Amino acid sequence: CGIVGYIGARPAVPVIMDGLRRLEYRGYDSAGIALGGADTGLSIRRASGKLRNLESSLSLNPLQGDYGIGHTRWATHGRPSETNAHPHRDCTGSLVVVHNGIVENYCELQDQLKAKGHFFLTETDTEIIAHLIEQEYLDLRERNDGDAAPSLEKAVSQAVKKLTGAFAIGVISTDDPGKLVAARSGPPAVVGFGDGEYFLASDVPGILQYTRDIVFLQDGDVAVLTRSGISFSDFHGKPLKRSPQHITWDPIQAEKNGYAHFMLKEIYEQPRAVRDTLRGRISAASGHIELPGLDLSHDEIVHAERILIASCGTSWHAGLVGKFLLERMVRIPVEVDYASEFRYRRPIMRSRDIGLLISQSGETADTLAAQLEMIAGDIPTLSICNVVDAALTRKARGSITTNAGPEIGVASTKAFTAQIAALLTLSLYFAQCRKTMPQEAVQSILRELEVLPKAMEEALRTSAPVCARLAKIFSNATDVLFLGRGIHYPIALEGALKLKEISYIHAEGYPAGEMKHGPNALIDETLPVVCLATKDGDDPDSVLKYEKTLSNIQEVTARGGRVIAIVVEGDTAVSSLVEHTITIPRASEALLPILETVPLQLLAYFIAVEKGCDVDQPRNLAKSVTVE
Ligand code: G6P
Repeated sequence: CGIVGYIGARPAVPVIMDGLRRLEYRGYDSAGIALGGADTGLSIRRASGKLRNLESSLSLNPLQGDYGIGHTRWATHGRPSETNAHPHRDCTGSLVVVHNGIVENYCELQDQLKAKGHFFLTETDTEIIAHLIEQEYLDLRERNDGDAAPSLEKAVSQAVKKLTGAFAIGVISTDDPGKLVAARSGPPAVVGFGDGEYFLASDVPGILQYTRDIVFLQDGDVAVLTRSGISFSDFHGKPLKRSPQHITWDPIQAEKNGYAHFMLKEIYEQPRAVRDTLRGRISAASGHIELPGLDLSHDEIVHAERILIASCGTSWHAGLVGKFLLERMVRIPVEVDYASEFRYRRPIMRSRDIGLLISQSGETADTLAAQLEMIAGDIPTLSICNVVDAALTRKARGSITTNAGPEIGVASTKAFTAQIAALLTLSLYFAQCRKTMPQEAVQSILRELEVLPKAMEEALRTSAPVCARLAKIFSNATDVLFLGRGIHYPIALEGALKLKEISYIHAEGYPAGEMKHGPNALIDETLPVVCLATKDGDDPDSVLKYEKTLSNIQEVTARGGRVIAIVVEGDTAVSSLVEHTITIPRASEALLPILETVPLQLLAYFIAVEKGCDVDQPRNLAKSVTVE
């Protein structure tokens, strides 16, 4: 989502709308604006769909006011509609909130607020924040015995302390006019200093054309913007010192948050994307997993006999990982098809099958066609999708949203790791319902999942310089092989796909054990072979798998092939055999695919940059393929 706020001497609407337009790349299923003014009170205008719908509504019926906040939405809770568009109000309509992020404890807060007489108009978690601030304001006023009116920032600080989840918010209220309050915990938020005017935005591009003197709010910061300046405090009201930084980025760099390409930005966003996909769905402490959007009865889950997955491209690779996870944890047979092939094999569908469609966009024509085939076969369909209310999710019985946020780079990165995180959650949920895993084993994976984003950060930090160096060595390759065994095989496929998509180097993913049945003939001293050689456990199966992969590596090196091995921390066996290793943190088998993906994406990225390719928009490819 995008947030823009303004207070100063200029008319607020054009500044806010201009900022929102510059942030539209962050999501655009609905938009809204709220203005405050000395004589006008609060006025709000919202519209579903693209920003131009809001623009037309404003030009037909202009809004009055001298300061305000605006929002473009990318839905997470509640479908995209005018009602669910931000800003959201409290009961009295005297306070409005715009919000980026996800409130995890919104059900609990909603119950508490309902008990105090609040009523809700929308399906969003953001509306809860407005009511919570209103309630804090009322409580503070009561405690003050009506003497001095409490400040808006005090009410905001009290309220945000009760939120769990992620939020960057902007608030204005007629009870404390001429003021814009922002708070951050998780998603980015910046404030900008102009000459007698001050700005708030979720991201630098929203305000860059008005000011380059910017403070990036830290987690736990509250900022208060008035016509005379910006003050900062923590959630306990303790004043903080924050000095603006002068930004020299051009607008294009700013959209990429300073990264050279959207793809690189999205690679680095993955820890956040995975955290947001797991957020509110898993709790290691209680062992609880919640997937309310699934809409399958306990009986349907318990009696399901097979899962049929269909998807395309990178999402198909996620499907293959899903097969491993579901079969391993739930002991349910899973078939994975390319969506484009599904209907042409006249698939057999039985009443206890469940269809699962995986798609970043939710608009891919082949995936939609496979879904129709499943619906015609009378089986329930579920979707794992990055877009709420996409064509795919609208037709699906139930959905899990991957909260990766808009993905701009044509080659999918953060959507993929978020899809695997969603598949892991789904597998654990089914395993719990069907009692196919001991609860301790479920909880142990949940514990690991909670720290997975940290491990991903570590993988990014350690593998980036190695991949950049390897890219210089291998950018002239004409072919590259990627090998993996078991759950690592789909990641080999994904590594090969990333490389071919953006660097135009021919690359193939192969099951490590299949080399001797053909591809060994290709090996010579010019062929780089990327081997996924991560030891994923100490059980006999894992040890055997690892040892066999070691033998495959030896087969390659013995024939002069140049191996780049992905290994876990502390591995010495592989590094003594091969020319290059990339190390990632240790993790159990189910989580390693996510960690292994990180260096493969970086390797493809740096090689493409080395070759001068158009990383974000590779030739002949499209982000969403809406033709069959
Ligand atoms: C296109 C994109 C790929 C993507 C595939 C499936 O080919 O270039 O990055 O994996 O479509 O898209 P979906 O939106 O269904 O995941």
